[in-house]
Amino acid sequence: MMTRWTPVVVLAAALVAAISLPMQAQDGEMVPPFGGAEDVAYAEAVWAAMDGYRDWKLHTDVYKGQSPHGSYLRLFSTFITVDGGTHPIIVKENYGGQGVSAEAATADPDQWLKAVTIMLQREDGYDSDNDNWFWVKFSPSGEILKNPKDMLLAGRVAKGMPKGCIACHTQAGGGDYLFSNDE
Ligand code: HEC
Repeated sequence: MMTRWTPVVVLAAALVAAISLPMQAQDGEMVPPFGGAEDVAYAEAVWAAMDGYRDWKLHTDVYKGQSPHGSYLRLFSTFITVDGGTHPIIVKENYGGQGVSAEAATADPDQWLKAVTIMLQREDGYDSDNDNWFWVKFSPSGEILKNPKDMLLAGRVAKGMPKGCIACHTQAGGGDYLFSNDE
C-alpha cells in the first residue's frame, strides 16, 4: 500500500515547490527589488501619466534643497492613474549647474533641470515594509537613470541596502518617508 502512495506524495511535493517558487519571487527574494522589466514598464507608464506635471495645481516654488537632490528643487503633486489604479505621486525637479539660483530655475527650468525623481504610492502589498512607495529617478527627458552598479533606478530602490532612496527616506520625520512635510 505504501508504495502505491509514493508517486502521489512526490507529485504533491513537486507541485508545492513549483507553486512556492514564483511566490518567493514576488516577495522580492528571488528577483532584485528594483530595476527589473516590470519596474521599468511601470515607470514608463508613470512617466506617460505624468505628462504636463508642471501645470499641476499643487506645487511649491523653487527652493534650495538638501543633498543629494541637487541644489534647487521644485515639487509637484497630484493623483495619477497608472494601469487602471489611481495613486498619489510626488514629482521633484532637481536643478543644478554653475550659476543656478531660484530665480534662474524659475524663469527657465529646462536650462537647469538635472533629474526628475518621483515617489508614487502603489497598491497595498506592493512593498508593505516601506508604505508601498514606488521610486524612480528619471533624466529630464524621461529616461530611467542607473546607479553606479548599472541598475536601473525604478521600483523598490534600493530595498534592503544601506544606501539609496528607501534607506535615506526611512529617516524622514514622522515615519512617512516624506521630508517635505517635516518641520
Ligand atoms: C541621502 C538621502 C536621500 C536619498 C538617497 C534620496 N533622497 Fe529623496 N529626499 C531627501 C531629502 C532630504 C528630501 C527633502 C528635499 C529637500 O528639501 O532637500 C528628499 C525629497 C524627495 C522627494 C520629495 C518628497 C519628500 O520626501 O519631500 C522625492 C519625490 C524624492 N526625494 C525622491 C527620491 C528618489 C526617487 C530617490 C532615489 C533615486 C531619493 N529620493 C533618494 C533625501 C534623500
